[in-house]
Amino acid sequence: MAENSSYILPVVDSTSVFKEGIFDGRVLFCTGGGSGICREMTEAIMRHGANAVIVGRNLERITKTAKELSDATGRRCSPAQADVRYPKQVQDAVSKTINEFGRIDFVICGAAGNFLAPISQMSENAFRTVIEIDTLGTYHTVKATLPHVRASKGSYIHVSATLHYRGTPYQVHVSAAKAGIDAISAVLAVEEGPHGVRSNVVAPGPIAGTEGMDRLGSKEKDASNRDTGMIPVGRFGHVKDVASAAVFLFSDAAAFISGVVLVVDGGSEHIRPVTLPYPRSVLDPESVKTMIKPRL
Ligand code: COA
Repeated sequence: MAENSSYILPVVDSTSVFKEGIFDGRVLFCTGGGSGICREMTEAIMRHGANAVIVGRNLERITKTAKELSDATGRRCSPAQADVRYPKQVQDAVSKTINEFGRIDFVICGAAGNFLAPISQMSENAFRTVIEIDTLGTYHTVKATLPHVRASKGSYIHVSATLHYRGTPYQVHVSAAKAGIDAISAVLAVEEGPHGVRSNVVAPGPIAGTEGMDRLGSKEKDASNRDTGMIPVGRFGHVKDVASAAVFLFSDAAAFISGVVLVVDGGSEHIRPVTLPYPRSVLDPESVKTMIKPRL
């Protein structure tokens, strides 16, 4: 028998690894929650009881998503329009959250930007744009939320990647940005641990049906037709795989876990050549010309 049996969380339905209600009364603040992986993480956390605020640049999109998530979960999700590059906008989104919900327990720093471009042809502004969205955006989000997360003894999840573990072509901007995010999370874990705050990173690998996968992974739109030979578990990831990791990291089951990077990639990183997940055509220097102009 475990010392504290409340940490043993039985499966209650086919989509959840934990029981319902573990996040009752909690509030999530999620940047980039309007779509993709961050939307799915928000839904999973709401399904376990939390209310949420999703932050994004596109008001129409986050308003629609917030309504859908509220309807689907029976919890309350509100949109807060902000561009994470601008600290005042992030602070305003935090104020809106506090006015509406009174607290922030969980923060997902997920807003990100990406495109393929070789360093030789990438403009300074292109590089800076991704650093500003991903790394500075994370910094701004942490700064604006930290007093509230300290007050609730809450927890951060930063959405990173695995591509910066090695030299991944055409990803110098994102590699630099994600390495910075990993570092922010580690420092946050060390500095804020004594205040009861945890900070961890989720690093998704090849997740089907996401904008990142569509932009970077393959021109083959149908995931079932893509080659899974370089994914040890034999399939592409699903957004639910990442969402389950987030539920775990925010839950009391992870109360002693801080400062880690949880890679969610089916084991791919251990066998990934640096050229993957890029299609061969992208590695052809001639294709660089067509890669830069049309936005992928
Ligand atoms: N190839 C090369 N450079 C690109 C590019 C591409 N596909 N897309 C944008 N850039 C460059 C621009 O040319 C510009 O640099 P310049 O002034 O030297 O020309 C710089 O990046 C800023 O682009 P801009 O479109 O003005 O910025 P933005 O804030 O509107 O766009 C991005 C942000 C760059 C992240 C854009 O790709 C985007 O909005 N993406 C959608 C969201 C996304 O990427 N999600 C992540 C999926 S993993």
